[in-house]
Amino acid sequence: MMGKGLVISVSGKGGAGKTTVTALLLKWLIENTEEVILVVDADPATNLPDVLGAKIEKTVGMVSKQLKDQINMGKIPPTVAKKDLLEAWVHQTLSENDRFDLLAMGRSEGEGCYCYVNSVLTRILDNLTENYSITLLDMEAGLEHLSRRTDHDVDIMLIVTDPSKMGFETAKRIKELISEVHIKVGKVFLVGNKFNHQLSSSLNSASSMIGIEVAGYLPNDDEVSSYNMLGKPLLELPDTSPSYKAIEQIAQNIGLTRFKRGEKS
Ligand SMILES: Nc1ncnc2c1ncn2[C@@H]1O[C@H](COP(=O)(O)OP(=O)(O)OP(=O)(O)O)[C@@H](O)[C@H]1O
Ligand SMILES: [Mg+2]
Repeated sequence: MMGKGLVISVSGKGGAGKTTVTALLLKWLIENTEEVILVVDADPATNLPDVLGAKIEKTVGMVSKQLKDQINMGKIPPTVAKKDLLEAWVHQTLSENDRFDLLAMGRSEGEGCYCYVNSVLTRILDNLTENYSITLLDMEAGLEHLSRRTDHDVDIMLIVTDPSKMGFETAKRIKELISEVHIKVGKVFLVGNKFNHQLSSSLNSASSMIGIEVAGYLPNDDEVSSYNMLGKPLLELPDTSPSYKAIEQIAQNIGLTRFKRGEKS
């Protein structure tokens, strides 16, 4: 067991670029650090494995449904601790890759009457992140995750916005909800996606209006589009591509350079 690792979440409006930013940040961490990384796809649509070129057999949603079903059918003997069972099943869903482990949350079914399973799950996930020095969370679109407290304890929250009113408004609501629902967030940053130099002034004025520091912005990158169309993993994007250059700057601005190889004390 290590101490508590750094947890970074990526949220924002639907289609703003959360998954792209998560994948490129992972690429940066793989190439620049020696850290053990956990990546969590917290979006029920489970897009991240494809974008990373990783395989997922089962989601956390599937195994918790399996547990709920077995409880319902009276199949679990009273001597078996449900927490231990679920914990083992969640660990089995982990997709182990060369430099990172990937966990997909999937859909949670049977919400409401299964608060027990859900709260056990939260604890299991909290424990899991302690085994990694860095955890990246690719959140679902919008605001729901805040009330469900999926990202209740993060060190760095990146809110991605594209150049749209809706993108900025979602960022503003996320910022407001953080204090309304009392979740613990270390530092919040705004990340622009599909911005160019001209549009960057609107990003800066939105950021001061909302009261969130800008971590940087990614340009609209044809290479990202073509990788997406060809189904090529973004981890293979060349280091010279404009969006990766932007991520290098963002990594520096949010303080990740302290994890760089050879720079750790
Ligand atoms: N900087 C960029 N340049 C070009 N295309 C991009 C860029 N960022 C994202 N895209 C494309 O835009 C689409 C949406 O991006 P992405 O999946 O990262 O958004 P998201 O916020 O994760 O969406 P969702 O809310 O559906 O999870 C994808 O097809 C992606 O390839
Ligand atoms: Mg996504």
